[in-house]
Amino acid sequence: MPGDKSISHRSIMLGALAVGETRVTGLLEGEDVLSTAAAMRAMGATITRETDGTWSIHGVGVGGLLQPSQALDMGNSGTSTRLLMGLVAAHAITATFVGDASLSQRPMGRVIDPLAQMGADFTASPGGRLPLTMRGAAPAVPIEYRLPVASAQVKSAILLAGLNTPGITTVIEPVPTRDHSERMLRGFGAELTVEVERDGTRIIRLRGEAEFRPQRIVVPGDPSSAAFFVVAGLIVPGSDLVIENVGLNPTRAALFDVLRQMGGQIEELDRREVGGEPVADLHVRHSALTGITVDPAVVPSMVDEFPILFVAAALAQGRTVTSGLEELRVKESDRISAMRAALALAGATVTETEDGLIIDGTGGEPLPGTPQGARVTTHLDHRIAMSLAVAGLASRAGVEVDDTRPIATSFPVFEGLLEGLVAA
Ligand code: S3P
Repeated sequence: MPGDKSISHRSIMLGALAVGETRVTGLLEGEDVLSTAAAMRAMGATITRETDGTWSIHGVGVGGLLQPSQALDMGNSGTSTRLLMGLVAAHAITATFVGDASLSQRPMGRVIDPLAQMGADFTASPGGRLPLTMRGAAPAVPIEYRLPVASAQVKSAILLAGLNTPGITTVIEPVPTRDHSERMLRGFGAELTVEVERDGTRIIRLRGEAEFRPQRIVVPGDPSSAAFFVVAGLIVPGSDLVIENVGLNPTRAALFDVLRQMGGQIEELDRREVGGEPVADLHVRHSALTGITVDPAVVPSMVDEFPILFVAAALAQGRTVTSGLEELRVKESDRISAMRAALALAGATVTETEDGLIIDGTGGEPLPGTPQGARVTTHLDHRIAMSLAVAGLASRAGVEVDDTRPIATSFPVFEGLLEGLVAA
């Protein structure tokens, strides 16, 4: 599996703040990460690609970012946008963020609110959307902020702003989300503590004006990318495959537990640590899946995996019920309605609720398709495109994906890997 997208973004951003050379291997060279790299270059860092996945970064020092001379083009990437807004918030610079049609629909108010409390100033498009221009504050004001939505991007934006802010910045996280920022901030030398309360609430405190030491970072494989091949292996009869280098950080890996609860045969081989993160190879075999009710408490640890879980559910025996998925409506597309429409065209039995999907599976029979054919709309959303490609493998009439270009944002080698597997 190619490198983890979340960790790749963060390794470039933090490397760009450390004086000296940070070397990253296993970096994901997807378009989203390239958007982050271009923006950090535009703000003063020297970033060089050496060989496949091996990059060298010479940073400017915490607080040393420069004013970009042009608008920062974030492409399709919400993570680049929100985390970089955090970085800019605590620098005396003005930056304009622009993005594609999907990104320009996505809410930025969730980062504007806390960053404005820290002193940054914003002019956003209606609804708190891109294009937006912000002016950072130096010095910014440390805040204590309780996250109103379970979002690693919002948490990370505040922590990144806190890096160049005097005093202690505190983020209170009632529901744990991916913790790559916390792990990597510590790795670079920031003073960061996490207190876990009895009810699971995490209180994250970061001391600002940190001194960063450059790092060597090995990026583990992306579990969100592996997810497509795990489900393909489970639903295509005769499958028996090993997916190498899958990151299994507990704040990311709930899909694999849910699939096991459904009867999926997924075995971990050679569990090890890569770049401070748990990693294993996954041995996956075709399995008879059974529908379940997915506990909404696991949503943050598999927030990007619901589109492909819906595909697994469509092939399972019985009913799968999901809820608590409001956040899916503001991802690269409205993933609840996009997956309902696409799976229905592929012949699945799907009901949309306000916060989830209810799916009655085929019990392992291929999806039948519908008379009008299954030409599905991806809405500039890589995960919709890849999920439906996998559904096509388990459908009688096949699925036609209208636009595969978005796949390159997160998983440029997806199509080649899938073709290789099918040929094998
Ligand atoms: C990400 C956090 C999640 C996830 C996104 C990557 C990150 O977004 O959906 O793909 O790298 O922090 P939210 O913070 O909006 O949940």
